[in-house]
Amino acid sequence: MNEILHAIMRSAIRIKDAIAFDDTGYSDHTNSTGDTQLKLDIKSDIIIEEEFAKVASIKEIISEEKENKTPLHGNGTYGVGYDPLDGSSLIDVNLSVGSIFGIYEGGYAGKNLKAAVYVVYGPRVELVIADEEVRLYRLNTANEFVFIKNITLKEKGKLNAPGATQMGWEPRHKAMMDAIFAEGYRLRYSGGMVPDLHQILLKGGGLFSYPSTSDVPKGKLRMIFEVFPFAFVYEKAGGEAIDGKGRLLDLSPAHPHDTTPCFFGSKSEIARVKACYA
Ligand code: F6P
Ligand code: MG
Repeated sequence: MNEILHAIMRSAIRIKDAIAFDDTGYSDHTNSTGDTQLKLDIKSDIIIEEEFAKVASIKEIISEEKENKTPLHGNGTYGVGYDPLDGSSLIDVNLSVGSIFGIYEGGYAGKNLKAAVYVVYGPRVELVIADEEVRLYRLNTANEFVFIKNITLKEKGKLNAPGATQMGWEPRHKAMMDAIFAEGYRLRYSGGMVPDLHQILLKGGGLFSYPSTSDVPKGKLRMIFEVFPFAFVYEKAGGEAIDGKGRLLDLSPAHPHDTTPCFFGSKSEIARVKACYA
């Protein structure tokens, strides 16, 4: 497991340099979800694959930027599912983006996650590892990730990050959002899942949602690469992560790129979502 974490750290340092200096334009490829890939999406994917190829305990990898799994080491134990550059359409406006990793053993179901890691490329580069606890690291001038602190969520927060096209929200979802704001919650939404969820974690709590809407009934965020890793992080930090009714980590995708509605937050906000969607 440690070798995987080190490979993620090496990847993050290389991706950070690519984000800072490479061409931010589009390639002429689309990924399996139909998004046009940036040159940086493709480069980040290649960097991660190169670093993971050096780790004998990784049996196979599965990337948001590829259609299928890539086998690596026959005798390996883990499958790693990752989104190499989440929120990459925010790069041209110089907002924060991230990389997300789920380390699975025995298939890509939520219950098989052993650890989750994400990297935030913002004004600083930060890395969060969740195994039995959730730890924040920050890159220093010597290109080392230095431990900063453990992350835990409070029982109730103050921030709300409401995803998806509002025009397509269900009336009960809109009513819940109106009630949350009416209670004094503050809007914090950049459109990058990684910095938006990172902000809620570090500011003690709140709610991030990407619900079912009329245009995307199963939501937009992918289980293997985005939803399960963050559900794991939120649970280990003392929060909860649900699809409206049940735990996200009880789900299993039928296909690698399957999506699900999702809600991540501290306990009080998630109780409210359960009441709304009951
Ligand atoms: O990967 C999908 C993503 O870019 C996430 O980072 C982000 O949370 C979401 O899309 C934003 O979607 P929308 O603009 O529909 O709210
Ligand atoms: Mg993504």
